Amino acid sequence: MQQTAREMIQEIKCRRDISIEQLEYLLTTENKDCLEMLREEAVQTAQKIYGNQVFIRGLIEFTNYCKNDCYYCGIRRSNHCADRYRLTKEEILSCTDTGYKLGFRTFVLQGGEDPYFTDERICELVSEIRQKHPDCAITLSIGEKSKESYQRYFDAGADRYLLRHETANGTHYRRLHPDELSLEHRKQCLWDLKEIGYQVGCGFMVGSPGQTTETLYEDLQFIRKLMPHMVGIGPFIPQKDTPFAREPAGTMEQTLRLLSIIRLIHPHVLLPATTALGTIHPKGRELGIQSGANVVMPNLSPVDVRDKYKLYDNKICTGDEAAECRFCMENRMKSIGYQVVVSRGDYI
Ligand code: 5AD
Ligand code: FES
Repeated sequence: MQQTAREMIQEIKCRRDISIEQLEYLLTTENKDCLEMLREEAVQTAQKIYGNQVFIRGLIEFTNYCKNDCYYCGIRRSNHCADRYRLTKEEILSCTDTGYKLGFRTFVLQGGEDPYFTDERICELVSEIRQKHPDCAITLSIGEKSKESYQRYFDAGADRYLLRHETANGTHYRRLHPDELSLEHRKQCLWDLKEIGYQVGCGFMVGSPGQTTETLYEDLQFIRKLMPHMVGIGPFIPQKDTPFAREPAGTMEQTLRLLSIIRLIHPHVLLPATTALGTIHPKGRELGIQSGANVVMPNLSPVDVRDKYKLYDNKICTGDEAAECRFCMENRMKSIGYQVVVSRGDYI
């Protein structure tokens, strides 16, 4: 018996699971009513838990040095066009100070895998932020480390860790990364982080080269198994100095559908409307929230390094001061009936 679109969406919502056939249908259908229903169910699901609140995170991109060579990424080590920088501890602390005054209560320290930032330096940085801002959450996003290193950062005061798994399919993982990186290790890192007690975020790019319905299905199953607190997804956007320069970008449409699906199968998850989504469409982040996302991450990095953290081309907000981004975001969210809140924005 043929399932109606409504029955399908209700079933996904009740089971918190999706079949590969249902996924294929929702990613390809042009049925406007069905897509509208998917979006509405996702928004309602988010609102039941988080109301009309959107959480903000202050993103500090503190180094664009990276020892890895992922084919998609603009700060890969082989990209000799990248203008490299790293912020000093003082510069980073000045970002968190500014951010605190602007109402941020979560700081996300993101960087390439930069050997300069030894465990010692990371721990020192984390403990100083912890001391200055005991009421804030500290999120690290600095790649694959040993379990011991993760434990040290945690003991120094880090609470959350973002590490996108990028794809849960081994063959697809190989298409995106050189041999020195492995999916197995990446997944192990996520399990280690969870075991230590971090709030953990995984995620992937939408429309990365080699992605199929099957690989996306595996991503969703991985999310169901890991049950992360956060899931970061955004469209793949080619960067001109990478091996994927000529690959097509992911689309906003697919990203929005996947945001809604993820909201339905993992109702409580913290789900950002990402900068990449804002980059491929001027209203991308608003539409992300209107598809079930509930987090935005304005940039707190100093303006003079902003345009150097180029994971992909045409990144937005590279000329804006922290305060501009903060209030721009507040207005954008207000314009669609959402309130940006001053709080750590913990998983409920
Ligand atoms: N397009 C979109 N997202 C990208 N990322 C890296 N390169 C790109 C790109 N070209 C994402 C990856 C990484 C996160 C920090 O940014 O998913 O985990
Ligand atoms: Fe950065 Fe609008 S969010 S300028």
